[in-house]
Amino acid sequence: MPQIELHAIKKKYGAVTVVEDLNLSMADNEFTVLVGPSGCGKSTILRMIAGLEELTAGEILIDDKPVSHLEPKDRDIAMVFQDYALYPHMNVARNMSFALRLAHYPKAKIDARVKAVADMLGIETLLSRKPAQLSGGQRQRVAMGRALVRDASTFLFDEPLSNLDAKLRTQMRAELALMRRRLEKNMIYVTHDQVEAMTLGDRIVVLKGGDIQQQGTAEALFKTPVNKFVAGFLGSPPMNFIDGSLTEADGQLSVTGEAFSFPLPEATRERLNGRSSRAVIVGIRPSAFSIKADEADGVGIELPVVLPEYIGSQSIIVSRLGGQQIQIEVSSDTPLRPDDHLTFTLDPSSIYLFDPQTEATL
Ligand SMILES: Nc1ncnc2c1ncn2[C@@H]1O[C@H](COP(=O)(O)OP(=O)(O)O)[C@@H](O)[C@H]1O
Ligand SMILES: [Mg+2]
Repeated sequence: MPQIELHAIKKKYGAVTVVEDLNLSMADNEFTVLVGPSGCGKSTILRMIAGLEELTAGEILIDDKPVSHLEPKDRDIAMVFQDYALYPHMNVARNMSFALRLAHYPKAKIDARVKAVADMLGIETLLSRKPAQLSGGQRQRVAMGRALVRDASTFLFDEPLSNLDAKLRTQMRAELALMRRRLEKNMIYVTHDQVEAMTLGDRIVVLKGGDIQQQGTAEALFKTPVNKFVAGFLGSPPMNFIDGSLTEADGQLSVTGEAFSFPLPEATRERLNGRSSRAVIVGIRPSAFSIKADEADGVGIELPVVLPEYIGSQSIIVSRLGGQQIQIEVSSDTPLRPDDHLTFTLDPSSIYLFDPQTEATL
């Protein structure tokens, strides 16, 4: 039984339509991540669920009951905002207990909940400090704690880690993932960061322009993206896209472009039955190239090292294929010199094809 259901929801600001016709069901105790580029409507959707923004059309159901007529406080939802603001004159304990005190919870119950959540977030020693005496990461935890002390059935997070530096973001991401295992709650988490989405979500919903492109597990979206947008959005460095066309000779389907031709697996030929000799966009992930030139594993191709980028455990080679700049990921112990040419092996089953008009996966 879905716990939260968005049914044909629409949101317009004046003449501007942000969300056209969105349908989404979130199962009980699911961690759903809405991910998409800035401006695609993530915060708007979250705010509509919380009741902070009215729907232009459609309905939101919680446990099968419409909630549009309910005030935010009556929706059993707690939200962590992107630009959280702690009360500067209150210490951590009082910041965290604010909503419970407003709701006239008994003091013993408030103290117990604040302590339990503070323990979980690792801020139990900071309870008497004021926000100005905290680091950015500690403040972020307090903001999180302020929502988590509430006894809500659903928690909404709007890019809660985006104000943190990269190292702290990675650390908090892991802590959130651990916390999630201890909390049996619905969580809807919004981010523009694909790594956050992939590491945290039971289910990831990829949005573009207020529309759902695809939803599923991280692995499903990474391995079988339905279109070029999803393929390019998940994965770092992103998938390379190169113009090509399908050609068939002696029963062998190939994808060919400027200075390359890759034979495609039989399964691809069967899937594309009758679609030969037409333009396609070729998608190849940077990690799909292998430098061990064992052609038994695939097709060999010589590519230039335009620019080697050493980033620690891997190196990224900026190269050129089919007249376009591409990125190739190799182990960092590979000796690389600009203007060298290296022979790579490419497994034909790792080649994605997209329709140039619709951008759908072929
Ligand atoms: N109050 C508003 N009035 C007019 N346009 C708005 C308002 N709030 C958001 N928008 C527009 O709606 C779109 C989606 O915004 P938002 O939901 O904040 O995106 P995201 O959170 O994905 O970055 C943006 O184009 C934004 O400019
Ligand atoms: Mg936003």
